Amino acid sequence: MPPQASPNGYPEIAPALLAWYGRHGRVLPWRAPPGSRADPYRVWLSEIMLQQTTVASVMAYFQDFTRRWPQIEALAEAPLEEVLAAWAGLGYYARARNLHACAVTIARGLGGRFPEREDELRRLPGIGPYTAAAMAAIAFGRRASVVDGNVERVTARLFAEETPLPKAKPRLRALAASLLPPAPADDFPYGDFAQAMMDLGATLCLPRRPDCRRCPLQDACAGHAAGLAGVLPRRTPKKPKPTRRGAAFWLTRPDGRVLLRRRAETGLLGGMMEVPSAGWHSAPGGPGTADPALDTGPAPVRADWTALPGVVRHTFTHFHLELVVWAAELRPRRGIRRLESEIWVRFDELSGAGLPSLMHKVARHALGKRAQADPGAGPG
Ligand code: ADE
Repeated sequence: MPPQASPNGYPEIAPALLAWYGRHGRVLPWRAPPGSRADPYRVWLSEIMLQQTTVASVMAYFQDFTRRWPQIEALAEAPLEEVLAAWAGLGYYARARNLHACAVTIARGLGGRFPEREDELRRLPGIGPYTAAAMAAIAFGRRASVVDGNVERVTARLFAEETPLPKAKPRLRALAASLLPPAPADDFPYGDFAQAMMDLGATLCLPRRPDCRRCPLQDACAGHAAGLAGVLPRRTPKKPKPTRRGAAFWLTRPDGRVLLRRRAETGLLGGMMEVPSAGWHSAPGGPGTADPALDTGPAPVRADWTALPGVVRHTFTHFHLELVVWAAELRPRRGIRRLESEIWVRFDELSGAGLPSLMHKVARHALGKRAQADPGAGPG
């Protein structure tokens, strides 16, 4: 049976859900205790960080950001480079640029205060429909339906919605909105409701093995009644991701430093530090196209480049990547062709160099292979 309609027309799951949230909701550093209002700056920062990432991987970043920049004014004053370096590892670097741009807009243009309405929030850099709804509900207690992947799953089960994703998205959004009181209600805790739905999805209403016995909504859940909870939501199979290839150039100096450079501002990993690399940012060519992983033409200097055994693998949203790592040592007096921006970093300082995860993998690969080839190798 679908959730029961209450006398005023909306399905009455809120009391059971909110009671459960009061007892079992996760304690997270950006949340206020149930029933009280959270700091909009912390809500915004957490929601931007949590886009397409898990709570577990965001935790340390959130603590670091709020320690360094406790208020939005401090974040707005920070150099973009520093913010990008602190963001390194979270991925999707355009989000860090938008985060900084949004901080500047709020701190300098809006007196340090976020607007409260969804439509106003959506005009800010990096704030899309989901984040605007989450902020309106969680930070400002406004009526807003907040639907992320977890909430989609809970809703599909609650209503036994069998249309596969992504086609079901608009329907699931409408069904999720139907769970809220129909008109804005001053005494309804919209923020707690949103986060309770998220927590239910993250802790009990799990993708493969939902723990229906402990679920506060078991009696209202049509998916459970139909024995479908574990298979909903259905999904249209995704097209497999293509694999692109490229080369990375690990150029070292005898004093134990490696050449890094800053990537172009636009495009993937825009503005991030990298081990110079080439070939992978464009779609794979047709059959017979030369393999960009084997082309040392784009290397930063002419040198005796040696391909290290194996490849570095990484997955982006739309493609898998395989990088062949080429290594060479810069010898004194070797002809330098074009070293656009020379940033030489000691091997033991690479972890603090603001490298994205892919480039940490490249560094580990290169240093590992070096150690195998020459067990005495280490920082100078
Ligand atoms: N995912 C996105 N926003 C969240 C929040 N406020 N709490 C827990 N998980 C989330």
